[in-house]
Amino acid sequence: MKITFCCTDTKAEPWLAGLRAALPAAQVELWQPGAPPADHAVVWAPPQQFFDEQSQLKGVFNIGAGVDALLKLRLPPRATVVRLDDAGMSVQMAEYVCHAVIRHFREFDGYEADVKAGKWSYRKPRSRADFAVGVMGLGVLGERVARALQVFEFPVNGWSRSAKTIDGVRGFSGAAQFNDFLRATRVLVNLLPLTPDTRDIMRRETLSKLQPGGYVINVARGAHLVDDDLIALIDSGHLAGATLDVFRTEPLPGDHPFWRHPKISITPHTSARTLRDESIAQIAGKIMALERAEPIAGIVDPVRGY
Ligand code: NAP
Ligand code: GLV
Repeated sequence: MKITFCCTDTKAEPWLAGLRAALPAAQVELWQPGAPPADHAVVWAPPQQFFDEQSQLKGVFNIGAGVDALLKLRLPPRATVVRLDDAGMSVQMAEYVCHAVIRHFREFDGYEADVKAGKWSYRKPRSRADFAVGVMGLGVLGERVARALQVFEFPVNGWSRSAKTIDGVRGFSGAAQFNDFLRATRVLVNLLPLTPDTRDIMRRETLSKLQPGGYVINVARGAHLVDDDLIALIDSGHLAGATLDVFRTEPLPGDHPFWRHPKISITPHTSARTLRDESIAQIAGKIMALERAEPIAGIVDPVRGY
């Protein structure tokens, strides 16, 4: 069995060594233009030329959870496209989102500013009943985040395409219940995949339905958010601020207002990193399962877009 590796912005050697160790009977090679045909590919943001040449692939394994960039390419017709299925990401995402929610709810930025100014001052405790958190997307990451938030006793709402029942989470589904979900939510967490249905989903019209003092945490994709609409709603006082990990253009251009906005915190697309060892173990297991014609989790539906 031949496996080809084509991942942009990724140090190839440790991945190749890990895949060779996990699949000793396989021939694992770094892709070069003109390379012989392989059975499976491990990819991140490959060029179109890669798929044009490797049109016989049976499996395409994306080393991330989001497949929006991959699905823009013309893919090999017979290939099963597989995304990372947690592989150590959900706990990182739960940490990041809980940290952002608590930092905002407990006003830690305000305390930090006071301390820097040499001020010993208290803020009035706020009621968590007034800080309902709404998680958009209740998949592998969103469900873990929704469960983690309950540990801190925030009311939690969840919105997904199909109806979901998660203990302690008020569930909403489909376009028909989107407005009710927004109106019931003060802190909005985005964990949707980027698809034609979800692009620009956080815009003036939707964000203005959040409860007054609303807060936005975007950890999915930059193109879910209309940047100018967010800034306008924060500056008008309808929204209290935002924590953003993902951006329409990455790295975020140096002159983008998000860098300096006092009510917006940013991080460089780091909320849930791909962990190499966990990912290699998962991908190797799934390659073997596919070879044995066994079912696997994490298969992407290109029509649905995730
Ligand atoms: P997932 O398991 O595929 O879950 C997607 C969820 O979104 C599902 O609950 C799905 O509903 C829901 N959904 C999709 N389209 C919808 C629509 N039109 N309306 C309502 N709900 C919709 O994905 P995941 O593994 O949790 O990852 C989510 C996203 O996080 C990825 O696509 C990626 O963009 C992002 N991500 C970011 C980072 C980072 O570091 N910032 C890291 C990893 C992933 P159903 O359950 O009904 O299908
Ligand atoms: C990262 O953003 C991922 O999709 O895994």
